[in-house]
Parts: sequence; C-alpha cells; structure tokens
Amino acid sequence: MSLVGAPHPATPVWAYNGQVPGPEIRVRQGERVRIVLDNRLSEDTTVHWHGVRVPNAMDGVPHLTQPPVGPGETFSYEFECLDAGTFWYHPHRRSFAQVGRGLYGPLIVEEREPLPVDRDVTWMLGDWRLRKDASISDDFGNLHDVSHAGRIGNTVTVNGVVSDVFGARSGERIRLRLVNAANARVFGLTFEGHRPQVVALDGHPVPPHEPGGRIVLGPAMRVDLVLDMVARPGSRFKVVDSFYKGLEYRLLDLVYADTPLRDAPPDRPVNLAPNPVAEPDLAAAQRHEVVLQGGMMGMMTAARIHGEVVDLRAMTRQGLVWAINGVAAVGHVHEPMAMMERGSSHILAVTNETAWWHPMHLHGHTFWVLSRNGQPTPHREWQDTVLVAPRERVEIAFVADNAGDWMVHCHVLEHQAGGMMGAVRVL
Ligand code: C2O
Ligand code: CU
Repeated sequence: MSLVGAPHPATPVWAYNGQVPGPEIRVRQGERVRIVLDNRLSEDTTVHWHGVRVPNAMDGVPHLTQPPVGPGETFSYEFECLDAGTFWYHPHRRSFAQVGRGLYGPLIVEEREPLPVDRDVTWMLGDWRLRKDASISDDFGNLHDVSHAGRIGNTVTVNGVVSDVFGARSGERIRLRLVNAANARVFGLTFEGHRPQVVALDGHPVPPHEPGGRIVLGPAMRVDLVLDMVARPGSRFKVVDSFYKGLEYRLLDLVYADTPLRDAPPDRPVNLAPNPVAEPDLAAAQRHEVVLQGGMMGMMTAARIHGEVVDLRAMTRQGLVWAINGVAAVGHVHEPMAMMERGSSHILAVTNETAWWHPMHLHGHTFWVLSRNGQPTPHREWQDTVLVAPRERVEIAFVADNAGDWMVHCHVLEHQAGGMMGAVRVL
C-alpha cells in the first residue's frame, strides 16, 4: 500500500482483501450478513464486529467465543444487523499488532430511511508508526507503549492514505462517518469555517447538535456528522486535529470546486430514527464498580493474575501493568467480574484511577452514558465505547439482554494487552 505517497516507497501492510481499510461492508438495517474469513496470515486471527449486537458465537473473541482461526483456516460469520449506524471490524487476536499493521474496515448499516444527503462518506482514521523507509516499525507491544498512552504513531491516514485534500462543492450536504481505527491515538477535530452537526455517536442517533468544541474520538469510537458546505466556490479550509497539546497538525484541507452544486445546502432536519435498543430501568438497576488501575504514574503496587497476588515488578516482567478491580487479565478467558440475569438492568460506575485516557468498550451491548463526575451527560448518548479521562468517573447503564460472556476492555490496544480487560456473563 502506498500510505505516504510518492516519493516514499510503499508500505508492506496486513490487509483485508488487499486493501486498507478493508472493503466497506454496506447493508440495510435488519439484513443478515455472511462474511467468510479466509486466514492467509502466518498467525491466528479472528474478526470482531465492533459495536454490532451479534450473537455471542459471532463475536470473534478467540477462546472465549470461538477457537482462533489458524493460518489456512476459514470461519464464517453470520448475523443480523439490528441497529443502523457506523460500525467497523477488526481482529481480536493480538490486535495491537494486527490492527496496527492495517487490519480494519468499515461496516455501515444503512437506516431503512437514510438521511437525505448529497454524499455519504466514510473517513477511517488510521495511525501508523513508520520508519524512514515507510515500513511499519515492528516494536509492537513494547513496554513503554503498554505502560503509557499506547502505540501512538507518526503518520495519520484517512482511508489508508496521507490525505491532502477532500473535494466538495458549495451547497453540498455531506454525511461524514468518522471511525477511529487507531491503536491508541485520540483525535480532536475541528473543521475551520464550518459548523458540522453531530447526528450519531458509535452508530446510534443523538439529537443533532454542534459539538461545542472539538469532535473527540477515542480509539474505536465513531461520530456521524452532517457537514454543510457553506463556503464560496474555490475556497479552502483546514480540518485540524489538536487533541494533544503542542502536537496539532492539519488532517487535510476541504477544497471547494469552482462550480457550486446549489446556492445553499438544504435545511431539512437531520434527525435519525432511534435503534431498537432496550432502555435500562435505572431504578431497578444493579450497580457495579469498575476501577481502572495501573500504568506509569499510577498508584497500583500489585494485582491478581490467575487468582494470585503479584507485585508490580513481577507483573511488569510479564508485560502486565494495568488492572480492572485489582485483576490484571491474561488472554481472553476470564472469571466474569459480574453475573447478569438476562433482561436485567445494570449500572457500571467506571472510575479511572490512572493518569491516562481509556476508551472502555463493552461487547454485545449498547449502553447509555449517564454521567461524568456526577454531572448528567447532555444527551444521555448510546455508545459502545466510552472515553474516560484521567481521574474521571463515568456511569453507564444497559440491559443485559444478549446471552454469553462479553468482554469489557480498554480499546487502547496496548492497554488491553497489558491487562486492562475483563468480562461479564449474561445468563
Ligand atoms: Cu473493537 Cu473488543 O473490540
Ligand atoms: Cu486504556
């Protein structure tokens, strides 16, 4: 793949169907999909359908929901897409290396009544650590990345290329689906000269609103925007990522063609119909504390590994530096941190005791984000991944209505590998 473009050499990648991102899978809400994984890597893999409420056996978690798919083997995934929205797929086996080498792709489930827009565009944001010769640095899973912010690269791509321009026309209305497929990088985007409206988060509709600052996407998160092209023909504006202080850069330029599409973008409303997600009963919900611990500048001194208390030094020798509720997880099979009766409502109170950001992902379910540091969220948004700031406490709620063992983990893939994962069991 030519990620960086001429005159740099091409980058050897791992890819789905030879392309990065992998093919955009597009289906209509309520349709069944069948996707055959044919593993031609030289190591085991699986595919996880991030955010899609699939049956447990289709969730793609090695050992927990299926055997890993070995080199030369195939596995057929088949499920119904209950929810419309922007989803994505990626391996769940050594994902810090497999995703970091290019294995990810978009899964778009169209509403039965799609938003009337001129164009429906996906931007998959990728982050790469490249050497001078444009090859991928193979220092995956090194202890420094694992114990700090994760593998943050030096090259950001949009749909697999270092993008220079995104062409548009005056008067155009664009639905822009942003997907953060990076291992660890958080994006904080601003569209100079434009006022995009957020219409969905992690695929699920929110009341359309202006973001009020940067559009923040932690790893694995999605934001759907309606972007109205309100400027004059021939003009040019920057899209900037300024999430990390002092490391601001231009993602790409919006470049207007010389001929307008029409005088002004349509001003029809941009509300999406809700997805059929069951609303938790907050009064009856069971509460669970989920405490995130460890990492550099953390206070953790020991954690349990396979039931035994191990001090931080010995943990570190095994590459484990993170824990949830005092447990540093190895592999994908865990003693569940909670047992949930099918159909019951649950509140997880997630407390981040660490000095780092953690995008916490729950498999098989979609949750409400109820509050942050005790303050109710303005939109009580549905998400499958919630970005938790250092020292922040976030409450989420959901109905445990999908039977099976489901992972809860940090989507900074190095943090996940370093122990920040667990599971809940829905009986
Ligand atoms: Cu997108 Cu368990 O992952
Ligand atoms: Cu994390």
